[in-house]
Amino acid sequence: MVILMKERISESGVIEDQELAEYYSLMAKKHMRIPCQRVLSRIEAKGIHQGNCLDVGTGPGIFPIYLSKTLPEIQFKAIDLSPVMVDIARKNAMEAGTTGKVDFQLGSAYSLPCENQSLDLLLCINTLHHLDRPVDFFNEVARTLKAEGSFVIVDFHRDASFVWIGLFNLFWKLFFGKHPKAKDGFIESVNSSYTLEECRAFLNQSQLTKWKLYTRTIEMWVESMTVPNNG
Ligand SMILES: C[S@@+](CC[C@H](N)C(=O)[O-])C[C@H]1O[C@@H](n2cnc3c(N)ncnc32)[C@H](O)[C@@H]1O
Repeated sequence: MVILMKERISESGVIEDQELAEYYSLMAKKHMRIPCQRVLSRIEAKGIHQGNCLDVGTGPGIFPIYLSKTLPEIQFKAIDLSPVMVDIARKNAMEAGTTGKVDFQLGSAYSLPCENQSLDLLLCINTLHHLDRPVDFFNEVARTLKAEGSFVIVDFHRDASFVWIGLFNLFWKLFFGKHPKAKDGFIESVNSSYTLEECRAFLNQSQLTKWKLYTRTIEMWVESMTVPNNG
């Protein structure tokens, strides 16, 4: 039996609806602790505890705010294309007592506001599915990372098992689905995400090297290979 993979339905663009953005922020603050810890564990596994980090598509800023508390020697910058989200992220930082620890700016994944080879770490969480030109984004990652810099990119993948997708959709509706505009948000994001094969092809077309791609249930993780310490 041949199961045809569904075509991607692009969800490019930004969350600009103030009410929806605030709802997303509220829910993220409540439920993102474990995802934040998982990203932290990958950063720790790479031995990074200082330097410059950029978070791309930061939304309400939950990830860099959490990480800036745990990794105080890292300089965090975080960008989003939505002015509404940047505003909310700044307010969240103030609320969390981390004002000044994360520099939130308006910015695009296709034109990162960083010098060539200036970043020790780049993060991009749950945002790749918004990007219709992933190769251009990956080239920007390659341009801005230092030679030994690291990256962690996490997103859904459209070819995850339909059992996992169904299960996570149920959880989404339970925790996030109370807002009428948000209730289909999870499934729309999955439909807009790339398959593993598509993502691998984009990475191969890009100037990024030394990456690995692996899955965790509904997620795909693209990471720089850990550089072996020969010292
Ligand atoms: C699903 S949210 C993820 C937010 C955050 N990383 C998280 O996991 O909580 C995706 C974010 O990407 C932003 N975005 C979409 N296209 C973008 C682009 N081209 N450049 C920068 N940000 C973008 C959206 O405005 C939105 O805030």
